[in-house]
Amino acid sequence: MNIILLGPPGAGKGTQAKKIEEYYSLPHISTGDILRENINNNTSLGVKAKSYMSRGELVPDELLITIIKDRLSKNDCSKGFMLDGYPRTIPQADALQMILTESNKKLDAVLNIAVDDEELIERLSGRRMCKCGASYHVNFNPPLKDGVCNVCKGQLYQRDDDKPEAIKNRLIVYKKQTQPLIDYYNRKKLLRTIDGSKEISQIFEDIKSVLEAL
Ligand code: AP5
Ligand code: MG
Ligand code: ZN
Repeated sequence: MNIILLGPPGAGKGTQAKKIEEYYSLPHISTGDILRENINNNTSLGVKAKSYMSRGELVPDELLITIIKDRLSKNDCSKGFMLDGYPRTIPQADALQMILTESNKKLDAVLNIAVDDEELIERLSGRRMCKCGASYHVNFNPPLKDGVCNVCKGQLYQRDDDKPEAIKNRLIVYKKQTQPLIDYYNRKKLLRTIDGSKEISQIFEDIKSVLEAL
């Protein structure tokens, strides 16, 4: 199964991706995570991406297309994959189409997780992250102990782009550059819209029903 998780910043792509990865054993490919890892390791890609990301702007298409082409060629993607945060522009979606065609693959579904702006802002401003990849929310999904990761006991931190100014910009950028993909995939009959305003576990049930019906 080859699927895309589409949705605005804070829709719950990463949260649901973790569950899908576990349940369906699909590799979770988050371009945001890949970029943040490169920033942490100070790679040349990380250096290029950093200023775009902290402002809430998109990183240039050509960098992302290279990342995704390389990642999809790895062995673990041979039986399926789940993209989270890619594509984010029409050129990225066209490039993905070419990459898949070249390797005789196709997309099975694009899950569009829909949440309104007010809720997105609340989710992003309360999000707390751990280095191990776990993610929490101070009210909606709090860790057992304040500021401490349940999984690895690491100290939780806030993402750079979860500050108010960056959140505002990310929502503007989403509407302008990424939202057109809803129409793009709808026309290809791949779009499945999921109500992302429900509880985390209920959304996962809805996603499972959609995937089982494919
Ligand atoms: P990326 O890391 O992809 O960020 P994003 O798309 O802005 O999405 P988020 O990760 O913020 O949200 P999410 O949907 O994963 O929500 P989450 O599950 O964490 O990208 C970051 C940046 O990298 C971009 O701005 C760009 O600069 C660059 N980039 C990445 N990919 C790129 C690309 N393809 N092209 C160009 N640039 C690229 O949930 C959010 C919070 O809500 C959490 O606290 C969670 O606990 C909580 N929550 C989740 N679900 C629920 C629920 N149902 N109810 C209540 N709370 C919930
Ligand atoms: Mg995410
Ligand atoms: Zn942790």
